[in-house]
Amino acid sequence: MGNNLLISVALASCFIVSKLVFYSHAVESPKYLLVHSESDYEIRLYREVSWIYALVQETSFEKSTEDGFHRIYQYIHGENLNSSQLPITAPVLTSVITSSPRTVYHVKLFLSKGNPPQPNPELNLQLEKWSARCLAIRKFSGFAKDDNVKKEMESLVASLTEHPTGNTVLDFNISYTIAQYNSTRHTSGRLNEVWVDVSEFNIEGCLPKQGKN
Ligand SMILES: *[C@@H]1O[C@H](CO)[C@@H](O)[C@H](O)[C@H]1NC(C)=O
Ligand SMILES: *[C@@H]1O[C@H](CO)[C@@H](O)[C@H](O)[C@H]1NC(C)=O
Ligand SMILES: *[C@@H]1O[C@H](CO)[C@@H](O)[C@H](O)[C@H]1NC(C)=O
Repeated sequence: MGNNLLISVALASCFIVSKLVFYSHAVESPKYLLVHSESDYEIRLYREVSWIYALVQETSFEKSTEDGFHRIYQYIHGENLNSSQLPITAPVLTSVITSSPRTVYHVKLFLSKGNPPQPNPELNLQLEKWSARCLAIRKFSGFAKDDNVKKEMESLVASLTEHPTGNTVLDFNISYTIAQYNSTRHTSGRLNEVWVDVSEFNIEGCLPKQGKN
């Protein structure tokens, strides 16, 4: 048991640059207000949130998440204009954006400290600030992979359609987000979520959307 743990810690540090690696102590996540809760989904109101993000055009969800996280990992470990070390946070987001001619991915990490430093230019990262927004969220376990993320999004849309959120046609095929909370070295007890933005659906307790960014 103890040995296995040591081995997995050692392995984790070998793969540190390409995998999602979090440390065992509690990490900070963006704060939200729970607006509505059902057995299979919930609606959350997030306040303003700052992210560091990577635009990636790899061939798959998994490859893009690795590539984006690799760049973000360097940023929080000093590859920024102030050579600052920033705390690891959760979740890591991968937004899947279906646009022609190919799907692009935005990989993001929450920045818990105000006034984050600018990334080194060669990392090709950007700082982004979300305005307050309402998200519909479905949780799922296991690993988030190319062969399950879209199905999870479709299940969330099916739940939202059963509990009408207004008479808007729900189409998130063009853009949805997967949130991953755990290091890849955890093979069980993993938490992931699929997020879709429902700010425009007049859900009670949600703010109307205040402009995009
Ligand atoms: C980065 O360094 C500059 C110059 O030393 C300083 O003015 C700025 O406040 C620092 N920014 C952060 C986010 O630490
Ligand atoms: C989204 O894509 C799925 C499968 O690709 C399709 O069945 C569904 O009709 C699409 N939804 C909308 C609203 O276009
Ligand atoms: C995965 O992350 C979630 C959310 O932070 C946490 O509650 C859970 O305990 C983590 N799982 C493992 C195996 O660490």
